[in-house]
Amino acid sequence: MKKRIIIDTDPGVDDALTFLLALASPEIQLEALTTVQGNVTLEKATRNALSVLEMAHAAHIPVARGCSHPLVKSPHASGEAVHGSSGMGHTDLPDPTSSIVETHAIDYLIERFLAEPKQISLFAIGPLTNVALAIRKEPRIVEAIQELVIMGGAIRSGGNVSPLAEFNIHEDPHAAHVVFHSGIPITLIPLDATYKCLLTSADVERLNKIDSPIARFVRDATAQYMEFYLKYEGFKGCALHDPLTLATIIAPELLTLEEHYVSVDISGGVSTGKTYADFMKVAKKPANMKVALDVKGREFVELFVERMERLMSLRGA
Ligand code: RIB
Ligand code: CA
Repeated sequence: MKKRIIIDTDPGVDDALTFLLALASPEIQLEALTTVQGNVTLEKATRNALSVLEMAHAAHIPVARGCSHPLVKSPHASGEAVHGSSGMGHTDLPDPTSSIVETHAIDYLIERFLAEPKQISLFAIGPLTNVALAIRKEPRIVEAIQELVIMGGAIRSGGNVSPLAEFNIHEDPHAAHVVFHSGIPITLIPLDATYKCLLTSADVERLNKIDSPIARFVRDATAQYMEFYLKYEGFKGCALHDPLTLATIIAPELLTLEEHYVSVDISGGVSTGKTYADFMKVAKKPANMKVALDVKGREFVELFVERMERLMSLRGA
């Protein structure tokens, strides 16, 4: 039985790679995308979502546009340094011919989950603004979402947008606080695991042995991302942050998951957006999520490359 999922997303290069991995995986049925401001503006994120689905021959998948600003803080300058001014690196995807659904992402999420309770999972790979407002507007979705898998946070790891905080959570820490304490069954995929999943230029060259727009997209989308990682993080490659969330479906054996009480600092100081797990159980609160504290990173990257090759063969390259 395929796992039916909706992805809430701020595409972003690694977001786009997640869409492709979902489309390439027989275990998954991608039901819809909902877009949110994050790596780029909401307008760019929504355009990118439509364009990548079209490039992958999946324009039939609905896209609903969501929130353009975090709940409280101002939007991040932008993720252009990592994802390029378009949000899609050095790619040059044509403007999409398909349109978004008219329903706002918050209402779209509420409608879909209430219509089929416990049948669909939500994968949140951008700031949690849409998810938090959907919970506040219609608390019943807490019981209707089968599972919420979040790419976000830094537990024992340092941050990537501040010394302590990871981008998605730091971008809307108040939304993360609402979601973390909502009662939804959550699996958190933090930097502790995602930084161990480095797609290398050799992996990209292997894909480009196949003459395909998908291989070229992966090459051009990741080129700037890899330049950023070499310049600022000192290693050749780029982390498959968002795609790793799908390992919960396609390769759960690669993840080391532990149940912990996890929260996020919203105090407004230097550690705002920092996620922390109560390893010593001093807060005496029940665990509110499963957390991926480790992963067999290279195995996951190999699986990602194999699935891209599979997608290209399915699409006739
Ligand atoms: O910190 C990594 C996360 O921030 C990923 O979701 C990436 O797309 C950016 O949004
Ligand atoms: Ca993202």
